[in-house]
Amino acid sequence: MAQVGWEERRANMVEVCTVCHTGPYVANSYEPYDGVIELYNSKFANPGLAFMKLLKENGLITEVQFDEDVEWTWWEIWHDQSTPGTPAISVPKRGPSARQLRRNSRIATATTDRILEIRCITATGDLG
Ligand code: HEC
Repeated sequence: MAQVGWEERRANMVEVCTVCHTGPYVANSYEPYDGVIELYNSKFANPGLAFMKLLKENGLITEVQFDEDVEWTWWEIWHDQSTPGTPAISVPKRGPSARQLRRNSRIATATTDRILEIRCITATGDLG
């Protein structure tokens, strides 16, 4: 499969959109997508990555993947929850949909669970 970076993919897609829409219209259409990605990264992805790194660096989890519960929780946050929001905001007529709000709330719950797990691990040294 060709290795194409996201910038190039996006530029290609924008080119398609501008066949029918004006440049500013297309740019405005992409704003909510960028916003939701930024929100996800700042609230969940970046702190989550930092937590996982901390656990690994301090020997609180093993090098083996998915042998601790916390790794499954992290998988749920970055793999399962990072994508469903995009189709939700792809329905412009509906605006920020209930689905997108539910998704954010699911991630927040999973993140809280994970923080509790991490507290337990650090407090007891129990690898779960
Ligand atoms: C083949 C022409 C064509 C292309 C290519 C195209 N659009 Fe459209 N788009 C339309 C038409 C026609 C409408 C109006 C449809 C309607 O109102 O029912 C529309 C509507 C929209 C709307 C408004 C939808 C709404 O619910 O009000 C947005 C936002 C939009 N397009 C974004 C994009 C983006 C982003 C791309 C590129 C990924 C794109 N369009 C590519 C023709 C196109």
